[in-house]
Formats: sequence, structure tokens, C-alpha cells
Amino acid sequence: MKLFNVYPINAINIVKGVGSNVFDDKGTEYLDLYGGHAVISIGHTHPHYVTRLEDQLHKIGFYSNSIEIPLQQQLAEKLGKVSGKQDYQLFLVNSGAEAIENALKLASFHNGRKKVVAFTGAFHGRTSLAVSVTDNPKIVAPINETDNVIRVPFNDEAALEQAFLQNEDISAVVIEGIQGVGGIQVASECMLQKIRSLCDKYDAVFIADGVQCGYGRTGKFYSQDFAGVNADIYTMAKGMGNGFPIGAISIAPKFQASFGMLGTTFGGNHLACAAALAVLEVIEQDNLMQNAAEVGGYLINELKKFKEVKEVRGRGLMIGIDMPAEFAHAKKDLLFKHHIFTGEAKPNVIRLLPALNLTKAHADQFLEAFTQVLKPATVLS
Ligand SMILES: Cc1ncc(COP(=O)(O)O)c(C=O)c1O
Repeated sequence: MKLFNVYPINAINIVKGVGSNVFDDKGTEYLDLYGGHAVISIGHTHPHYVTRLEDQLHKIGFYSNSIEIPLQQQLAEKLGKVSGKQDYQLFLVNSGAEAIENALKLASFHNGRKKVVAFTGAFHGRTSLAVSVTDNPKIVAPINETDNVIRVPFNDEAALEQAFLQNEDISAVVIEGIQGVGGIQVASECMLQKIRSLCDKYDAVFIADGVQCGYGRTGKFYSQDFAGVNADIYTMAKGMGNGFPIGAISIAPKFQASFGMLGTTFGGNHLACAAALAVLEVIEQDNLMQNAAEVGGYLINELKKFKEVKEVRGRGLMIGIDMPAEFAHAKKDLLFKHHIFTGEAKPNVIRLLPALNLTKAHADQFLEAFTQVLKPATVLS
């Protein structure tokens, strides 16, 4: 049997990880500023994480949602505390797309409507509803096509207001606090406040997609928190399990649950909860949100000094370096010449999504390599 070949990959076999470093099968060490796509939040093989998962595995790995799983309640309490939304309710799933799917469904159950406002440049996942609110026709299969999505230009408050005036049946507005796949584009605080006020006015549901920009990455738990307003539903996944597949939605108190309304086989299993608890414990004990703000702030300031760079965007440890076309080679050079993993976004943005305990020394290592990468190539005679 062959693999279904959908991923363009680098010919590197990573076999080990420690903190912000990974190692290939030949023993080469890499600095991981990609975090396996914003997933590694507390560093590879963090000792507390490994021990907690190991201990749990020796007890029980999985049982279904038909019995009491006290770890779920412990996770809800810890998440409520660390995220500062103690009165919200938790529903556990397995991935980011599943979180979005359930958020949109819950909104529609809540107000009985079908239309969703989503933004240009948005990425919300690949399952049915998630891909329909994503702004990329190439990954929308005919079966996913729908008239229920109203596409509004990102950060355009007037266009959002118009959308509400022209459509009486808007169920929800979904927005990433910082667009990831869209190239690290920060939602303006005014825009997020406008969404809050329009959702209040028209009884629509404000869904904050925190799958990539959430979980402390920006220095606040949800990046939408910078606007000082609460969303009705927050989605999360990537950093939540530090690599163990888990996602969730955090749901405002006004939503009423009923038996059978939402459900999943694997969501909230013992092992996933142990992983998520370990992550939150480390985030809390090691002040990782503060570290993300400090080291990220340092990186952003230093990167802004490079005159070759078109623009540096982002917050905390979610950083986009917008490069001119002549530096299209930069990401590959960082990886193959300097052994540094970074992410990318089209057309030419380098994305930094490292673990939240990245050190200033790691940041300096990257800045040194970045300086080298930007130097004009020496012509050998
Ligand atoms: C903002 C955002 N939402 C949702 C998703 C989908 O998450 P998953 O790949 O876990 O389904 C992603 C994935 O990249 C994302 O960046």
C-alpha cells in the first residue's frame, strides 16, 4: 500500500525532539521555529508532559463519553482559570476543524439561522463547514459549496455592517484573531469590537477561531483578548495537546446544552485530557504567556530593523516576516544551510510559530542565521 500523496515534503526524517530542538536520523540538530505547525507549545518531550502521559497510559488510555471522566472536569477548571473565562463551558473534540464545525453548528442550533460571515484570507480547516468558511476555492470540493457563507474583506468594518443590513439571517461571524495561513494578518481591535457590537445587536454568535493564534501564543490566552471584548465561542486545538490530538470549544454561559446535541467518540479521552492538563500546568508554572510576549516582542523589534524585509507582522510568538520576491529562497536556506525550521504563507511570508518557552538565545541564533541568509550571494570567479 502507498501513502496518498498530498503533502509536498522536505527530505528530512526527524526522529527526536528536546525543547525547541529536533534531530534527524543522521544526528543533525535543528532549531524548531515552526513548532510542527504551531502545535508544539511547551517544547518537545517536556519532562512534565512525558511523565503525565506515561502515568496516565499505565492507568487507562481511553474510555468512552458514556462514563464519568473526572480529568475532563479538571481540564475545564484549569482551562477556565488560565484563559480567564471561568464561567464558560467546555466541549472536547480532536482537531481544529472539528472545533470549528461544532462552533458553527452550536451557533445555528442557538439562533436557528444558517448564514455565516467569514473573512477574506481566512483559514478554518478542511471539513465540511470549516472549509466552506475558508477562503480558498482550491480546497472546496463541489459537495462543500454553499450559499450560506457571506465573505467580507478582512478588517473592513463598514462591509461587515453592510452584511448585517443586507442579511437578516446571520447566525455567526467567525474570525481568526491573527490569520495564520492568510500570512499573519492581525485583526484590528476596532474590527473585533465591531463584531461584538453587531453580534449583540442582531443576536448573532461571535466565534473566535483560536486554533492557531490562541493558547497563549500571542502573550494573551486568546489573541482576540487584545480587543477587550469576549467572544461567544472560542475554538482551540494545535497548542492544546503539544502534539497529542485534541481540540475544544469554550462556550459562553448563555448557551444551553442538551443530551445528544453534540458528540464525538474520541473527544475528551483520558490520555488527551492528561496531555492537555500537562500543557496548561507548564504554561501556568513557567509563565509561558509572559515569555511568549517578551521573546516574541524582542524578535519582532529586531526583525523590524532589517531593511530588506517588506513588513513584520504578528504578536508574541506568532510572527510573519513578509519578504520581497528576491528572497524567495530564504526559508529553504534557513532549513538546509542553517538547520532552522520555519513555516511559510503565500506568496512570500516566513511564519515563526515556535514553542512558547523559546529562549532569547534561540531568538539570537535565528537572527544571526537570518542576517546570513539576506547577504547577497558571493560570486565565485
Ligand atoms: C486558524 C485555523 N483554524 C482551523 C484549523 C484547522 O485545524 P486542524 O488542521 O487541526 O483541523 C487551522 C489549521 O491550520 C487553523 O490554522
